[in-house]
Amino acid sequence: MHDMSADIERVLLSERELKDICSALAGRITKTYADTGRELVFVSVLKGSVVFTADLLRRVPLPCALEFMKVSSYGAAAHSSGFIQVHLDLKRSVEGADVVILEDIVDSGRTLQKLSGLLAGRGAHSVRCCTLLDKPTCRQVDFRADFVGRCIPDVFVVGYGLDYGERYRNLPYIGVLRSAVYTRA
Ligand code: PRP
Repeated sequence: MHDMSADIERVLLSERELKDICSALAGRITKTYADTGRELVFVSVLKGSVVFTADLLRRVPLPCALEFMKVSSYGAAAHSSGFIQVHLDLKRSVEGADVVILEDIVDSGRTLQKLSGLLAGRGAHSVRCCTLLDKPTCRQVDFRADFVGRCIPDVFVVGYGLDYGERYRNLPYIGVLRSAVYTRA
C-alpha cells in the first residue's frame, strides 16, 4: 500500500488547526447572517471544498440551503480576468438570497471573481466568498474574499479536499507536497 504521508514534506495545517479555523469562520458567518430575514444559500465549489464545506456548515446554526457547482476558470491573454466554464450548475434560483460561495483555495482569483459575478447577475441580494486558504501572492486579478481562513505562501498544498492528480483529497490535514512527487510525473 502506498503511504500518502510519505509524499508530504511537512504539515501546514493540522486537524486541530483546521477545526479552529472552521469554528472561527463559522462564527463570523453566523454573526453576519443572523436575523437577516432572507434566505441563506451556501454554494460549495466542487470538488476541493467538499471536506471544508462539511466541517464549516456543521458549525453554522442558521437555517440555510446547500448547493454545489463545478466550474473551471481559464486565463486569456486578451482578458486579464479570463473566463469561466460551468460544468455543474445550480438547479434553483438565488434571486433575493444571501449567497456565500465556499472554496478551498484562492490562487489567481479568477474562479471566485467570475463565479461571484455570475451569481450576482442572477439577482442574489448579496454574494460573499469564504475560502479556507488564500494565496495572495498568486493573484492575477483584483479579487478579495470576504471570509478567509488562513493566508499561506505559494507552496503546493494537498489534503483536506485539495488534490494533486485527484489524489490526497482524503488526507485529514493540509500538507506541503514534496516537489519530487510532481517533478517526476
Ligand atoms: C481549484 C480551487 C479553486 C480554484 C482556485 O480548483 O478549488 O476552485 O482552483 O484557483 P484560481 O483562484 O486560480 O481560480 P480546481 O480547478 O483544482 O478543481 P478541484 O476543486 O475539483 O480540485
